[in-house]
Amino acid sequence: MTDTEYVREIARLKKEMNAVILAHYYQEPEIQDVADFIGDSLDLSRRAAATEADVIVFAGVLFMAETAKILSPQKLVLIPDVNAGCSLAEGCPGDAFRAMRREHPEHISITYINCSADVKAASDIICTSSNAEKIIRQIPADRPIFFAPDRNLGRYLSKKTGRQMLLWNGSCVVHETFSTTKLLALQLEHPDAELIAHPECEDPILTRAAFIGSTSALLKHVAQSSRTSFIIATEPGIIHQMKKAAPEKEFIPAPPEANCACNNCPYMKLNTLEKLYRCMINRAPYVELDPDVRERARLPIEKMLQMS
Ligand code: 13P
Ligand code: SF4
Repeated sequence: MTDTEYVREIARLKKEMNAVILAHYYQEPEIQDVADFIGDSLDLSRRAAATEADVIVFAGVLFMAETAKILSPQKLVLIPDVNAGCSLAEGCPGDAFRAMRREHPEHISITYINCSADVKAASDIICTSSNAEKIIRQIPADRPIFFAPDRNLGRYLSKKTGRQMLLWNGSCVVHETFSTTKLLALQLEHPDAELIAHPECEDPILTRAAFIGSTSALLKHVAQSSRTSFIIATEPGIIHQMKKAAPEKEFIPAPPEANCACNNCPYMKLNTLEKLYRCMINRAPYVELDPDVRERARLPIEKMLQMS
């Protein structure tokens, strides 16, 4: 089938199944264009909790679809490719996470949403890049914090809030790929471009950034700013919406270290229009979670929603 036929069939199936398509900003443009809602991790969690559709089709990665299932357990949650994982989730296995918690029983655990349902179930509070600072500021000053699994986001939050935190040693394969040397050369070529970055980036990039935020915050910033040119240090999928929000402005992807497209998330980019169509027609693959894990994982996510 051609892309146009997939788009038409997806629209037909959506009506027939009473489905809603949720997509993350790192999805391919053609997937973003068929979605009912596009957002960052927090926006997508809120949407998944509030939808009245019978079926949620999640065009993102597995931890996002699992969060949707945890918040809406009675709904069928479809995912175009079950192999769409995340290096942060994969670098934080449940057993090792629980062992760390046992070693530090006095610490409250604030866990970034980029983790498995198993890890969520063993956490006190979940956060995303858009609400982490707000949540940390609500924790009493004398309570030690264990932050997992992204050490870059954790380090950034420590600096921002002045809170020392015990950090899990994980990182995102995409956000640690940006080259400082190439970035400096790019800034010389484009002296008027403003560098903006996602907080999963490493410290040398973050210290040079004029604005740091979640994907939604970056999008809002470029739309509202009086600047007309930006260097974007995050996954370049977000540029599709930036161009729509501010067509007259210039968006330059920050360069990766190697001569490859490794600033593209290899997990997010597993999803295609064809796989999206196939998961709808087959009503599979779908997210299935152990009910006990699902229930325990719901509590720290709900806590996050209350605190943000
Ligand atoms: P956001 O919540 O900012 O969209 O981040 C999700 C993500 O996976 C970033 O790499
Ligand atoms: Fe995970 Fe990084 Fe991909 Fe986001 S961009 S889904 S953090 S691997």
